Amino acid sequence: MSSVPAGGSAVVTGAARGLGLAIAAALHADGWRVLVTDVDAAGAARAAEPLGGWSAGLDVRDEAGCAAVAAEADRRDGLGLWVNNAGILATGPAWTQDAAARRQIIEVNALGAMNGTLAALAVMRRRGAGHVLNVVSLAGLVAAPGETVYAASKHALLAFSLGTLADLRGAGVRGIDISCLCPDGIWTPMLHDRLDDPQAAASFTGALLRPEAVAARAARLARRPRPVVTMPGWRGAQVRLLDALPGLAVRLTPVVAAVGRAGQRRQRRRLSDRGRP
Ligand SMILES: NC(=O)c1ccc[n+]([C@@H]2O[C@H](COP(=O)([O-])OP(=O)(O)OC[C@H]3O[C@@H](n4cnc5c(N)ncnc54)[C@H](O)[C@@H]3O)[C@@H](O)[C@H]2O)c1
Repeated sequence: MSSVPAGGSAVVTGAARGLGLAIAAALHADGWRVLVTDVDAAGAARAAEPLGGWSAGLDVRDEAGCAAVAAEADRRDGLGLWVNNAGILATGPAWTQDAAARRQIIEVNALGAMNGTLAALAVMRRRGAGHVLNVVSLAGLVAAPGETVYAASKHALLAFSLGTLADLRGAGVRGIDISCLCPDGIWTPMLHDRLDDPQAAASFTGALLRPEAVAARAARLARRPRPVVTMPGWRGAQVRLLDALPGLAVRLTPVVAAVGRAGQRRQRRRLSDRGRP
């Protein structure tokens, strides 16, 4: 993988809040000119204020919208980086989610990130340089009981990203990288209302990460692309081992769920110690 100097335009999707906002701030601090985008256009504008004030409303499900944002970013400073961060979570066994809910998760997390990747590649392939950074999840590496449709969307994104990187190399394109960042649970609004949801236990089986710490890793990854980075690294090794032993993983489901529920209780206690509900 090449080493990419910070600079030029960087697009971050789903950056009005949570991890996307933290990534936008870390990239801004690292010298990128950041285009803050989100389906919540007003939220993106507010988030962008201290980060150079460049924002756009973008629903990642809108293929033409992604292409327009990529073109705008390229016009301003040359599109150097596109971060597919936008994502949604719904919990519960797949049979408890209606078709519209299942479709929405796949459309935002998998198809939306494909739209972003392909819009960015259309611009980057003309210039022969650039980097697409996809925010996946540990749920992209292993089954996540209670979060199965979400995990399916993230598995799709990982396979799409690595396959597309290989296709680029196969086509002789060396100057464009695709990286996948696979973090454990992060304390963002995505999880704020999940402390009492036993179906979300999979997100609480490790020590919750701070969005700023994950964003700092993303900014480093933006400089030194790598196909897959897990965070923390040891959790990546752990879930890959479980994935290699699917029968054991299924038998361990009650244990993993109990560990996650303990993590939810711990986080509740931590918040109430700090005087928050
Ligand atoms: N929070 C975690 O535990 C965790 C762990 C691993 C990976 N991730 C991934 O990190 C990314 C960011 O998640 P987060 O925790 O900050 O979530 P979040 O819910 O706090 O923020 C998600 C942002 O995405 C935006 N968004 C939703 N649908 C969109 C769409 N169709 N188009 C554009 N923007 C849209 C929302 O408006 C919101 O601003 C997601 O891809 C998520 O899957 C999160």
